Amino acid sequence: MDINDLALARVLHIIGVVLWIGGVAMVTTVLLPSIRKLKNPEERVIFFETIEKSFAIQAKLTTVLTGATGFYMLYALNAWGRYLILQYWWIHAMTAVWLVFTIMLFILEPLFLHNWFIKKAKLEPEKTFSIVFGLHIFLLSISLITIFGSAAGAHGWFFF
Ligand code: HEM
Repeated sequence: MDINDLALARVLHIIGVVLWIGGVAMVTTVLLPSIRKLKNPEERVIFFETIEKSFAIQAKLTTVLTGATGFYMLYALNAWGRYLILQYWWIHAMTAVWLVFTIMLFILEPLFLHNWFIKKAKLEPEKTFSIVFGLHIFLLSISLITIFGSAAGAHGWFFF
């Protein structure tokens, strides 16, 4: 490992996080509230699903990039032991956020989540849209807490 490898991995890691979580923020704070105002309940989830399909490709690529560079940094810093130290809760948080999105994007969504939402949206449009919105608020919140903890922790600000 040379110092430039680590720096490059960090740069790519941050670019991955920006494109990925930035997209989640855009969907949560701009797209979903606009759809709620503009579309009737029956159309909302279908319209949202159609638009989010384009973001799904970006989300998949950036999830892979962020995970690969993150694990590379753990290897390069020889920092696997951090998983055993509570002070490094932000390493656990990064891994957990990455796992949640990876399972959703690569397993749940293609296998059943997509069809389940379309069916449920026809039966209970209002409730389904609220579930989609609530899920995005939850995902954005845990991501922002993780970014806060990781940026602080990586630069020596430990909270306890
Ligand atoms: C498998 C998943 C991940 C692993 C293994 C991982 C690992 C790492 C490592 C080893 C560092 C460098 C720590 C240091 O310099 O001491 C880091 C930095 C960072 N990671 Fe992750 N990460 C992962 C996912 C994520 C996710 C999902 C996010 C955002 C939600 C994230 C945000 C950050 C941020 C903001 C930094 C600080 C960059 C800096 O200021 O230098 N990471 N990550």
